[in-house]
Amino acid sequence: MSRDGTPGGDRIRALVEMVPAGSRVADIGSDHGLLPRILLAEGRASFCIATEITPAALDRLVNRIGDHPLPANFELRAGNGLAPLRPSDRLDVLVLAGMGARTQVDILSAPLRIDLGNCRLILQPQGEPAVLRRWLVGNRYRIVEERLLQVSGVFHLALAAVPGILEPPVDHPALTEADLMVAGPLLVRSGEPLVRKYWEIQLRRLKRLSGPGTRGPGGRQAARDREQAERVLEALPSDAL
Ligand SMILES: C[S@@+](CC[C@H](N)C(=O)[O-])C[C@H]1O[C@@H](n2cnc3c(N)ncnc32)[C@H](O)[C@@H]1O
Repeated sequence: MSRDGTPGGDRIRALVEMVPAGSRVADIGSDHGLLPRILLAEGRASFCIATEITPAALDRLVNRIGDHPLPANFELRAGNGLAPLRPSDRLDVLVLAGMGARTQVDILSAPLRIDLGNCRLILQPQGEPAVLRRWLVGNRYRIVEERLLQVSGVFHLALAAVPGILEPPVDHPALTEADLMVAGPLLVRSGEPLVRKYWEIQLRRLKRLSGPGTRGPGGRQAARDREQAERVLEALPSDAL
């Protein structure tokens, strides 16, 4: 539960807050269905589809929701990725949360995404954020919001991106594009103390992995990642101290 009482905690609350009021939303890989249930209960979404990858997984979702008849503006569908969605659903928002970034990129690469129209993407990748950010930038999405959360000691990233906007090049006076894809162009500029805390923890870990006695490709990669973490920490706004 989040500090404000949201079931599923601060991670789900962050996703809820990224959904524009009145949206028609598909939650891909909904699992427990918490997000669409909260969006509808709070009146933030006008229509929700919760999907699961297989009929068996959808049955589990149905059981978690309970026996109550669903409201007419809440549909449950089984299928891989975007497959259960139709242009006639007139969706505004696609949510993919709690999955690996590579799974999210696979799902978003389906041609059906284009047919679904200009949906806002709300994404919460488990690891490898650079994989997701690179795909977004390469597919003409603009990242409009990035939030870093720490829940029970675990860091989570949530981001929102919108299509069809000509993005100025992702740049920063002190960081490379690769640095920004790892650290997040908006998080780097945010001045959030949690961003500094995250990078300090990363740097401590990478110093251990790249210290004296560490050799081979793993040690060399850790040394490169350590230099990157040092650059990012150096570039964070000083008011984040
Ligand atoms: C860890 S759960 C996250 C649930 C929820 N989205 C959240 O953030 O709390 C990931 C869910 O995604 C579903 N999933 C994984 N790959 C999928 C795919 N290709 N299409 C639809 N659902 C998928 C899994 O079955 C699982 O229920």
